[in-house]
Amino acid sequence: MLEDKLSIVAKAMKRSEIRELLKLVARPDIISFAGGMPDPKLFPSKVIAEVASKVLEKEPERALQYGPTEGDAELRKELAKWDGVDIDNILITTASQQGLDLVSKIFIDPGDTIMVGYPTYLGGLQAFNSYAAKFIGIPLDDEGMRVDILEDTLQKLSREENLPKFIYIVPDFQNPTGVTMPTERRKRVLELASKYDLFILSDTPYRPLRYSGEPCANFFHLDGGKERVITLFTFSKILCPGFRLGYIVAPAVVIDKLVIAKQGTDLCTPSFTQAIVREIMKQNMFGAHIKNLVSAYREKRDGMLNALNKYMPKIDGLRWTRPDGGLFLWLTLPEGMDANIMFKKAVKDKIAYVVGSAFHYDGGCRNTIRLNFSFPSLEQIDEGIRRLAGVIEEEAREVLCRGE
Ligand SMILES: Cc1ncc(COP(=O)(O)O)c(C=O)c1O
Repeated sequence: MLEDKLSIVAKAMKRSEIRELLKLVARPDIISFAGGMPDPKLFPSKVIAEVASKVLEKEPERALQYGPTEGDAELRKELAKWDGVDIDNILITTASQQGLDLVSKIFIDPGDTIMVGYPTYLGGLQAFNSYAAKFIGIPLDDEGMRVDILEDTLQKLSREENLPKFIYIVPDFQNPTGVTMPTERRKRVLELASKYDLFILSDTPYRPLRYSGEPCANFFHLDGGKERVITLFTFSKILCPGFRLGYIVAPAVVIDKLVIAKQGTDLCTPSFTQAIVREIMKQNMFGAHIKNLVSAYREKRDGMLNALNKYMPKIDGLRWTRPDGGLFLWLTLPEGMDANIMFKKAVKDKIAYVVGSAFHYDGGCRNTIRLNFSFPSLEQIDEGIRRLAGVIEEEAREVLCRGE
């Protein structure tokens, strides 16, 4: 009976098939490349314990009280300094998933079109879906969204008077593919956004985790104050996801609306975790910690690339990305192979991944796989890729025999 009363959007909501599959792989005997979790051994728990106890000693009334919806003013000041923006451009969020939800809440009317990478971050698609958005997917190459296809698509949509509201981009070490958009392409995307009067939602959780290559300019710096960019950032990957702490950089008028939207969601982000991060920033402790993360994850990325080179069968069409940072790489199987069908065989061989179709808004590209290298140990990475190579080789032989 209560089911009948659900909203139209809630009625359309389905449990994610992928999350159900992932429950299968939470067994300790399975080597999982499936999650997107940081390595818990790298959480700076000692530093956090020290800072937390000082915060409780010095400012218990403030740290344990409700705080302003905008976030702790001193933390916002630190972040504004870090990003070279004004404090009015910063809103603290309960991590970046809330940023995705709040931006959707103030911008998406049911049926609005959003442009997304094909593939893109699954949680982004889920947030936009909750507000009944429609998607247009732009395929990627090794430099992120294909700008030639973006341009052609925008031209066509403009003729049809069906332009999207915004373009959602994960520009640095994208989840799921690991690819990064170079500065020149970012400029071109901004020009197109300006020509067609759209904004860019730039989601940057992995930006500080660069292991090779040169940094690219941030979208909001390239925008130069023209107010076409909203940026999401999170401490989940560079500190710990359990804090649920992030922030949005946006024009002040947008921040004003987001604050009102956030009041209806959770009043404020927890004051205690904000106080801890504020003190860590003030004491300049982030630099050394990020350096540490970069060197540990670089080793794991290299471990996975070496294992892929060593074990993967030489089959036409089997390829993978070589990310300069982040937590993931992306493997493409030859046409005709199906990572969803292969998944059960992989689990039988005690190895797990996320099927690439989960990151395509229409469930397409079933011959793709996302692999995470931050969570497993170096030994697990080597052994897991060896097993995965065996599964792929066997599946490829079967597909070939069936003549698919
Ligand atoms: C691209 C992207 N955006 C947002 C998130 C959400 O992160 P959080 O809510 O922990 O900040 C993730 C998490 O994996 C992500 O990969």
